[in-house]
Amino acid sequence: MKIRLVDHPLARHLVCRLRDAATAPAIFRSLTNHLTIILALDATRDLRTRTVEVATPLDRAPGELLSAPLVVVPILRAGLGMLAPIVELFSDTSVGYIGLARDHTTAIASAYYCKLPDVVGRTTLIVDPMLATGGSACQAIDAVKAAGGSDIRLLCVVAAPEGVLNVSSHHPDVQIIGAALDRELNSQKYIVPGLGDFGDRLYGTL
Ligand code: PRP
Ligand code: URA
Repeated sequence: MKIRLVDHPLARHLVCRLRDAATAPAIFRSLTNHLTIILALDATRDLRTRTVEVATPLDRAPGELLSAPLVVVPILRAGLGMLAPIVELFSDTSVGYIGLARDHTTAIASAYYCKLPDVVGRTTLIVDPMLATGGSACQAIDAVKAAGGSDIRLLCVVAAPEGVLNVSSHHPDVQIIGAALDRELNSQKYIVPGLGDFGDRLYGTL
């Protein structure tokens, strides 16, 4: 089982405020934005660059530019809350969408939408704040791989050990980057202590 947890006091502060049941949707969205920046920077710290030289107002300076544009794929609907900050940071990003919804009784996700850009040879960030059973993440990874993707990173806010194990056993090549690893899943397959239903808290549909 492998997950890399971001190690920053601001990340822990943001997760704590997201967990708080008293945090209202508008604040919840803003906290998600800020935490996603930390996750995205961590998940992309080994991106390839090419060396260039630019003319400053005073002299020439060596520098580096990102070699290739990223792909980001939010899993609808909660993953949409993590999209904007990544597109803001990496302006060249192409965006794909995968729609998956968990059945309330079985907790098995079924796909209702999939539209991906060209992923061949490009780093793909799949973003979904909750990694519970890992069923949704595995289906999303399967879809990106079926489209030819290979360098895939999964970004989540809170993970359960069951989800990390599921993803890392089916897709050992995929890096998982998260902000918190929680204790377990409850009988409804919700993460505990967790933060509840992320999509509902993000969009005020409680
Ligand atoms: C939630 C969450 C993940 C999934 C995680 O989505 O956003 O996509 O559950 O659970 P899993 O690891 O057990 O698959 P949900 O299906 O509730 O849909 P929503 O984002 O539309 O609320
Ligand atoms: N989806 C959520 O939004 N929360 C959980 O705890 C599990 C799945």
